[in-house]
Amino acid sequence: MKKIIVTGGAGFIGSNFVHYVVNHHPEVHVTVLDKLTYAGNCTNLAKLSKSRVKLVVGDITDAKLVDSLVKDADAVVHYAAESHNDNSLKSPFPFVKTNLLGTYTLIEACRKINVRFHHISTDEVYGDLPLRENLLGHGEGIGEKFTDQTPYNPSSPYSSTKAGSDLLVKAWVRSFNLRATISNCSNNYGPYQHIEKFIPRQITNILSGIRPKLYGEGKNVRDWIHTNDHSSGVWAILTKGYIGETYLIGADGEKNNKTVLALILELMGKPADAFDYVNDRAGHDLRYAIDSKKLREELGWTPQFTNFCDGLKTTIDWYKNNRPWWETKKKAVEENYAKNGQ
Ligand code: NAD
Ligand code: DAU
Repeated sequence: MKKIIVTGGAGFIGSNFVHYVVNHHPEVHVTVLDKLTYAGNCTNLAKLSKSRVKLVVGDITDAKLVDSLVKDADAVVHYAAESHNDNSLKSPFPFVKTNLLGTYTLIEACRKINVRFHHISTDEVYGDLPLRENLLGHGEGIGEKFTDQTPYNPSSPYSSTKAGSDLLVKAWVRSFNLRATISNCSNNYGPYQHIEKFIPRQITNILSGIRPKLYGEGKNVRDWIHTNDHSSGVWAILTKGYIGETYLIGADGEKNNKTVLALILELMGKPADAFDYVNDRAGHDLRYAIDSKKLREELGWTPQFTNFCDGLKTTIDWYKNNRPWWETKKKAVEENYAKNGQ
């Protein structure tokens, strides 16, 4: 695998994956295909040598451009997406276009000339799990987690378009022998995450003198994984995964939002009650939890960044030390949330 295309490689997780590949696999050349939407930022790749990484600014729904790039590649790793649930509730069309039509365009290009394809997806395609506290006393189901056998049951426009894109990939494998794998990962955190998302929003709120905002009662649970562990999981699947298989990536990081916020406040030296409860998200998924046994046992993957407190400290430092990266965007992001009472 010498030449790979990384779609969405100027976004949060995609750019962390490009850093991972450049740092760990010196034989690989990366072409990033990214539209540089509001979520993409070419400075995420600025420290990487141009001899190792080439950025092509373009849209994954542009079949002519996609065909011209794919013909020179050994593999496509597909991260590009509209990724934020709250945005999808306000304006679903870009999600339908990029996540469905974009994935279709890429798999058609790969099918025509038999190029290996890896599809990055999310645990949200499975819907949500009950909170553990609601299961107490009912015995069955305590500790239930998502596996690759869990039925699809997405809740939001974002997760339904991701689910649809997974199904396109599965159908292309079965009907056209597309050489593809899929990974469904849980909530990532780390550097370069857009400040619309929960953890960076709260960190940059505190750095800007704004009180952090917790949706609803803060009971919703997310299964946090450091983005570097996501990258190593994707690399393991890309190089050792079985064609047609789906692997779930997670690092046993379940925590409710209130607990995560309490830790951020503590690490940033703020009182425990220095935050506001705000309007809940419509259709807000209660709990995600990943069973990553298949990836661990079949491909020998182990997450390395499992100390959440340490990972959070490093992430807070990153936002402290990279103010120009986010500061100009902060006002507009908060004005947008305020319109929704969030
Ligand atoms: P992000 O929003 O930070 O980045 C998305 C990138 O895709 C941006 O660089 C953007 O410019 C690019 N892009 C958007 N539309 C495009 C188009 N039409 N053509 C080309 N490029 C386009 O997203 P992220 O959080 O890094 O997520 C990346 C992928 O990982 C997504 O597929 C998402 O569903 C998946 N995922 C995310 C998480 C998470 O916790 N953030 C967890 C599991 C899976
Ligand atoms: O599970 C994987 C998914 O994780 C990815 O597929 C998505 O691309 C990614 O955005 C993320 O989705 P979430 O909706 O879980 O992430 P978000 O950061 O938007 O919110 C995390 C939790 O925090 C969620 O329960 C909503 C809550 N929240 C969010 C914001 C922005 C708040 O309480 N306050 C906030 O200000």
